Amino acid sequence: MKVKAAVVNGVNQPYTFETLNLAELKDDEVRVKIVATGICHSDDALRLGHAAYEFPGVLGHEGAGIVEKVGSGVSNIQEGDHVVLAYAYCSHCNHCLEGIPAACTDWLSLNWGAVHTDGTPFFTRDDGTVVRNFFHQSSFATHINVKATNITKVEKDVDLRLAAPLACGLMTGVGTVVNGLEAKPGSSIVIFGTGAVGLAAMMAAKISGCSTIIAVDIHDARLQLAEELGATHVINSRSTDVLEKIREITNQVGVNYSVDTTGVESVMKLSLDVLAIRGVAAPIAVTNQNITINTLTDLALASKKMIGVLMGATVPQLSIPKMIEYFKNGVFPFDRLIQLYDFDDINQASADSLSGKTIKPVLVVDKSYTV
Ligand SMILES: NC(=O)c1ccc[n+]([C@@H]2O[C@H](COP(=O)([O-])OP(=O)(O)OC[C@H]3O[C@@H](n4cnc5c(N)ncnc54)[C@H](O)[C@@H]3O)[C@@H](O)[C@H]2O)c1
Ligand SMILES: [Zn+2]
Ligand SMILES: [Zn+2]
Repeated sequence: MKVKAAVVNGVNQPYTFETLNLAELKDDEVRVKIVATGICHSDDALRLGHAAYEFPGVLGHEGAGIVEKVGSGVSNIQEGDHVVLAYAYCSHCNHCLEGIPAACTDWLSLNWGAVHTDGTPFFTRDDGTVVRNFFHQSSFATHINVKATNITKVEKDVDLRLAAPLACGLMTGVGTVVNGLEAKPGSSIVIFGTGAVGLAAMMAAKISGCSTIIAVDIHDARLQLAEELGATHVINSRSTDVLEKIREITNQVGVNYSVDTTGVESVMKLSLDVLAIRGVAAPIAVTNQNITINTLTDLALASKKMIGVLMGATVPQLSIPKMIEYFKNGVFPFDRLIQLYDFDDINQASADSLSGKTIKPVLVVDKSYTV
């Protein structure tokens, strides 16, 4: 079938709309008509060349929509189901079986492979050019084929325009605190970067009972929102010495946990320096910047840890309904992060995200959708 998609043709190129051919549905796939999709910073990180990806491709990995067709090998999903789309996983490797599908042995080939694992493409142009895929979804398109493991079903009263970004940015922030750091009640945490991932991490810290929650950013408007959403302290790193201020807040002890969502070299290093003895840092940005650490003075002497957390180490099918429940209970008001844009305005939405104006842009692909 023909689909409308926002294609990126190379590093630093804008999104350009094209009509593409969507591949035939495979037995283990489901066709979804996209209603809305978030733009995650990772989409733009690829577009801007901060992580390797071969173009042309259709990015987008925070899709939400309605099931149109179900492959013959899929049993738990029906036509008409409302779905939120996260990453794909194999469901039978030892990591999947142990409940950490974000560590799936096939994670990279399934989500970053750009074509199916059997080598066939997801999209082609009429001249036969292969247009690549992302996260086994490519949600910047009107219709896509996904694996059953990409899918989390949601109730029909859930607004798919709000639910879309739960599948990456918000899930990652929440999961990093809950599953990655396993933040304990009464503990202290600092979140560097109050974008969608950082603010979700911060709200999860509040839900987890952290008693000192410090948010750091360079935008006062974002820090004000962080305060409204539960930060006990906010620091603008443009005007304040962050290390000194955190020492002051914690009576010179440092924090138990830190999360870096900025990917900035000096900030990632700082996220280790601010830790208390036995503190744990989770640097989770998609970045091409590196840090140098001395394993003795930066880690061992204070028994500190630095951990990698992918997609919040979450099982999307468990975490997405949980976040919706938190939202309904009023403790996870993530709708305050979202700004809706028409799909046709994808370049404006991306620019507003990169400038700091919009925290979480969500593109409305199907304007006829109502809850
Ligand atoms: N590990 C994962 O599984 C995973 C999943 C999703 C997203 N990510 C990554 O997480 C990161 C955050 O995503 P996001 O959507 O929240 O992005 P974002 O751009 O909205 O947020 C980053 C924030 O960092 C702030 N910032 C930038 N430089 C700073 C500095 N020097 N000091 C303090 N703050 C600074 C920005 O103002 C912004 O608010 C991105 O790199 C994204 O690609 C990782
Ligand atoms: Zn993402
Ligand atoms: Zn697996």
